[in-house]
Amino acid sequence: MSETKGEFEPKIVVYACNWCTYAATDLAGTSRMSYPPNVRIIRVMCSGRIDPQFVLQAFADGADGVIVAGCHPPADCHYIEGNYKAYRRFELFRKLLETMGIEQERFRLEWISAAEASRWVQVVNEMVTQVKKLGPLKPNLEVRE
Ligand code: FES
Repeated sequence: MSETKGEFEPKIVVYACNWCTYAATDLAGTSRMSYPPNVRIIRVMCSGRIDPQFVLQAFADGADGVIVAGCHPPADCHYIEGNYKAYRRFELFRKLLETMGIEQERFRLEWISAAEASRWVQVVNEMVTQVKKLGPLKPNLEVRE
């Protein structure tokens, strides 16, 4: 990732559900919307597929922030209740982050539908601004495989 004049450019990893958020990122691209190039998008079939271990691994591998995003709850998930499971899982996970020395603001759980390209751009802009304020993450994580 490029840094100009010493300005910190955070690396943001995004786990995006294929059916909603990933489609929104695609729509943002085809609509020629611009957003910061700090995000690395990993497409998964459903937010319910995302294990908290994936998020910890991203932080351990150098991410300064992580976004998990999927279809709006309760009814939009293509696998019935994957987003509901993700919601329960990550609300608990968020509370554990502080105990690992990671500010909660470095993690976001978002619901972004396929038509919400502008919402996607807004979330990325907010996250990049927020993580820039926090500065680089220096985690003390040892993730076992
Ligand atoms: Fe998108 Fe489940 S299919 S969150």
